[in-house]
Amino acid sequence: MTGAHRLSPLRAEAARVTQTPLRDLVADDPDRARDLVLRVGPMHASFARQRYDRAALDTLFRLGESFDFDGRLQALFEGELVNVTERRPALHTALRSDLVDSQVARVSHGMAREAREAMRAVVDAIVASGVTDVVSVGIGGSDLGPRLAVDALTRAGDARIRVHFLSNVDGHAAHRVLAGLDPSRTAALLISKTFGTQETLLNGGVLRGWLGDDSRVYAITANIARAAEFGIPETRILPMWDWVGGRYSMWSAVGLPIAIAIGMDGFEALLDGAAEMDAHVLREPVRRNLAAWHALTAVWNRNALDLASQAVLPYDERLRLLPNYLQQLVMESLGKSVHIDGSPVEVDTVPVWWGGPGTDTQHSFFQALHQGTSTVPCDFVGVIRADAPYRDNHDALLSNLLAQSEAFANGQDSDDPHRQYPGGRPNTMLLLDALTPRALGALIAMYEHSVYLQSVVWGVNAFDQFGVELGKQIANTLLPAVRGETEADDAVTRALIEEIGRQR
Ligand code: F6P
Repeated sequence: MTGAHRLSPLRAEAARVTQTPLRDLVADDPDRARDLVLRVGPMHASFARQRYDRAALDTLFRLGESFDFDGRLQALFEGELVNVTERRPALHTALRSDLVDSQVARVSHGMAREAREAMRAVVDAIVASGVTDVVSVGIGGSDLGPRLAVDALTRAGDARIRVHFLSNVDGHAAHRVLAGLDPSRTAALLISKTFGTQETLLNGGVLRGWLGDDSRVYAITANIARAAEFGIPETRILPMWDWVGGRYSMWSAVGLPIAIAIGMDGFEALLDGAAEMDAHVLREPVRRNLAAWHALTAVWNRNALDLASQAVLPYDERLRLLPNYLQQLVMESLGKSVHIDGSPVEVDTVPVWWGGPGTDTQHSFFQALHQGTSTVPCDFVGVIRADAPYRDNHDALLSNLLAQSEAFANGQDSDDPHRQYPGGRPNTMLLLDALTPRALGALIAMYEHSVYLQSVVWGVNAFDQFGVELGKQIANTLLPAVRGETEADDAVTRALIEEIGRQR
């Protein structure tokens, strides 16, 4: 397990490195702009503006080696029970790659291939049916990945079928999504690994009632019995499996909304991009491994520099949902404070991940990033070649992206304290050649592997999420109280329910 002592060499390095301003670290080592970079397929990453020097980076790499990153990745891909608390493998890689020779990974890969054939048939059937709109009902991992990919990859005015997403239990969400849709030309996808999620079952019921006809309702689930109980025949159920975590599931039939929006070939290109990243991450040693480098940088910022939040700033309107997606991927995976064996983690784990698209966010929270008292490391994500016709806009976008990265790192002196920029804000630059399905697949897979490797360092299980259960349980017990049938036990809740009752 990760005793604080294993990370103490990082703190010693940090004490030394932080004596030197980041701009001087870069100026003193002009080659780092070209050396602290990696290219993997359609993606270029620069770590030149992180707040470490080569000696500290070497310590970080040795840390990754000492945690046996290579072996832990091999274990993940081979289908070892890395989700120890639930005694399951986490074989999302088998949904897109066939890189290892273990029985369980091969079988899983075969199941995933078969499911893709079924997906293709559903996509064809939906297209042939003359449906114009599809409503995808799901939440968390059954929503955020498809929502991001559909938003990112659907070209303006080019949607074969419009895909809408409904996640929130708030009835206003359903009301808004359904307004303007024609029930006779709409199909519904109910996506839920467990088929027991309150939001999805309630919204599924709303959709079914609104459609008035069950024949265009499909389910994607690992719980076929519950979906059948809900009234969906097996012929319209696509599989999920307990060996894929919800937040790692967009590569499975959970990605059906993506396949409907951009076509099955586009969906498979997304998988190919992820597979390319898988091959890189599995085969390259720590020092040339993008996910390892990204993960170790996260550990450096959290545990050596004590930075408690992390921003992700996509400079592309089509990636505006990337921060939302990463919030679940990273914080549900790493928001833990006990080791796999139940003992307490002695160091800080996940920072708060947040963000939003540039350039909009330059005019909202960037002031705090430039001059606030907290240093927030940033992942910038840019796209080199645009698909929109407005060249001047893209030039402006790229110049803003580059400028902000430079300003955060270098800052600027001034005699006037109000106009001083301290700099020293570390950031990583991730550039995609173009926003293709392949590039998006590679980007997301990189983050997945980085998260896993961070969990290895912190000794936590990246694949369970017991923290979300308590609130759900209490909500279930409070439902009758909200309806006025019972009284809440908790005095504060009881008073609030009384107030709600008075104003209703
Ligand atoms: O928020 C908890 C959670 O279990 C997530 O991990 C999951 O992605 C989401 O709920 C939805 O779960 P399901 O796919 O079972 O409806």
